[in-house]
Amino acid sequence: MGTGVTCGVPMRQENAHMSDRLTVLGLESSCDDTAASVVRHEPGAQAEILSSVVFGQTELHADFGGIVPEIAARAHAEKLDHCVEQALQSAGLTLGEMDAIAVTAGPGLIGGVLSGVMCAKGLAVGSGLPLIGVNHLAGHALTPRLTDQLPFPYLVLLVSGGHCQFLIVRGFDDFTRLGGTIDDAPGEAFDKTARLLGLPQPGGPAVEQAAKNGSPDRFRFPRPLLDRDGCDMSFSGLKTALRRARDALIAKQNGLTKQDVADLSAGFQAAVCDVLVEKSRRAMLRFSASERTKLPALTVAGGVAANSVVRQGLTTLCAENGFRFVAPPLQYCTDNAAMIAWAGLENLRAGVTHDMTLTARPRWPLDENSKPMLGSGKKGAKA
Ligand code: KG4
Ligand code: ZN
Repeated sequence: MGTGVTCGVPMRQENAHMSDRLTVLGLESSCDDTAASVVRHEPGAQAEILSSVVFGQTELHADFGGIVPEIAARAHAEKLDHCVEQALQSAGLTLGEMDAIAVTAGPGLIGGVLSGVMCAKGLAVGSGLPLIGVNHLAGHALTPRLTDQLPFPYLVLLVSGGHCQFLIVRGFDDFTRLGGTIDDAPGEAFDKTARLLGLPQPGGPAVEQAAKNGSPDRFRFPRPLLDRDGCDMSFSGLKTALRRARDALIAKQNGLTKQDVADLSAGFQAAVCDVLVEKSRRAMLRFSASERTKLPALTVAGGVAANSVVRQGLTTLCAENGFRFVAPPLQYCTDNAAMIAWAGLENLRAGVTHDMTLTARPRWPLDENSKPMLGSGKKGAKA
């Protein structure tokens, strides 16, 4: 339980800012998006995202088949100031009108996280504003409160290119991890599948598009770990099965037809979707067994939440089980700084800020009590 804020010295002033209107500048640079945002909130009201600026780096890494950490870190360092300037400008506010500066302090690619933390420290020292180090995963997990005012407790499925886990969220710093991937994240599997099938990056949208013309039944790929109890998942075997099916076709007919690519994409997508839906069903059962709430809710975050087949599967699952399904708008499901500003705002409202010893953490599990996850993933260390 708890984020166990060990980066920097957390300072807590009880009941600080309980009734004030708060405006927070958020910075995000833990992966391949440089982002800044201004979020404002008055207690009891819907939060306002006054600005949300995101600079992607897709083209910088396009030739390398994955994110190159050094290139990412340099690009963040170059873009952050500009990004902050734009976020303030489009919010129509000055730095002096902020109540705090929140920054992703981990987990993620360390060079990028460091760039963000150094930038935020500079801004905090220069302006005299409080500094708040935010866990990137907490940013994702708290997003439905920013976009939909979702009350605690609720269940989150975080599915991106670097992460895959189920969390019970009971408070802004109270997370219980129910399970997650033991190897690849689903987005990573979509990206690798696209590469195997000669489709462009990012792979998720390309595979989804190709699958629209395909049959999910021609290739029956494995549904890993469904035979095992619990909420853990595995996606790397699925990718290997797809590679075998592809190689068998190539050996037989000397290449892949458009229909082969469509059918392989549809088969792969159906397998990922089945695993996510079945494990979500189990996570919902565990949520219901441990939480007392009249209106249980499942919410999603991360790029894979953009997949319409996955969304449809989860929508149906929730309808069948009396859960509300909350899917934040796509630009707040993927990496952004509004979620960091919001998480910072929740910390500030509870009186939690950090001093200048705040450090960047490559790994920072939200639930310090759960067992560490395996693998490091293409997008950096997993939490
Ligand atoms: O959350 P995100 O923007 O970045 C991080 O991973 O941190 O997620 C990006 C991932 C990529 O792996 C991408 O292929 C996947 O989300 N993705 C999708 C779709 N759109 C993006 N996967 C499946 N279907 C989609 N429509
Ligand atoms: Zn993320």
